[in-house]
This record gives sequence, C-alpha cells and structure tokens, in this order.
Amino acid sequence: MADTEVKDFLNKLVATQGLFYIRLHQFHWYIKGPHFFTLHEKFEELYDEVTENLDEVAERLIAIGGEPYSTLGEFKEHSILEERVEDKNLSEDDMVKAVIKDYQTMRASLEEGIELTDEKGDFVSNDMLIDIKEDVDKTLWMLQAFIGNNPLDDIK
Ligand SMILES: [Fe+2]
Repeated sequence: MADTEVKDFLNKLVATQGLFYIRLHQFHWYIKGPHFFTLHEKFEELYDEVTENLDEVAERLIAIGGEPYSTLGEFKEHSILEERVEDKNLSEDDMVKAVIKDYQTMRASLEEGIELTDEKGDFVSNDMLIDIKEDVDKTLWMLQAFIGNNPLDDIK
C-alpha cells in the first residue's frame, strides 16, 4: 500500500499540470508582439511537454493505487497554479514572466515532492519527479535567458 502523502502529492501535481496545459494554450493563442512566431511555437512545445509529464504522473499514481483527478473541475480545484481570463491580454514580456513564475512555483513543489518520495522510499516516483524537474529547470533557464535574466533570478 503506497503512502497517502505521496499519492496526494502526485495528484496535486496532476491537477497543476492539467491546469498549466490549458494556461499555456491561452498564451499560445493570445501571444502578440514581435516575438509572436518564436513564443507561439515555444508555448506549444511547453504544453506538449507538460501533457506528456501529466500522463506519466497520472499513470504512476494509478500504478500505486491512487485515483488521478481527471476532470477540468478537479484540476482547477486542486492545482497550485491559477488561471486568469484577463491574462490573455498580457504583453508578450509579461506573458513570459507569468510562465516563468508558474514554472518556479512548480519547481519549488517538485523539490518538496522529491524529498517526500525519497523519505517514503518510493524511488520510482522519486526518479520520475527528478526527470520532470530536469525539464522544468531547463525550461526556466531558457525562458530567463529569453528576457535577459540568469536562470535563478526572481521575477518582479
Ligand atoms: Fe496551435
């Protein structure tokens, strides 16, 4: 019987990834400005990566006896990220910053999940979360570089 805390963590991650998938579509559709072509494509690449990871986390959760959230309502209720209708009007710079902040929130949560799964001896989930964090770290570096920042800079 897998640990409840691990299952709860993975499910919260499922909800967060589900919401983020839609949020990245919002930005993919509404991005405006001189970097349209670059960012329109980049956001698509990111939501593709997010949905692949979402599927992996949800299926891992099932494999350890959990029940992943599977509806938009559950995603919205349990996600650690938020969506905002008005964010479709953000400038391209603010859109990139919003995405960076979301990835930073995900990274902090993944760090907790990595520690938790290690403590609980769930090394398969641990390995999966480390892989996801590797994607998140790399994306953060690239998005930060895009706006002239260093990888670990705070966003104002
Ligand atoms: Fe598209």
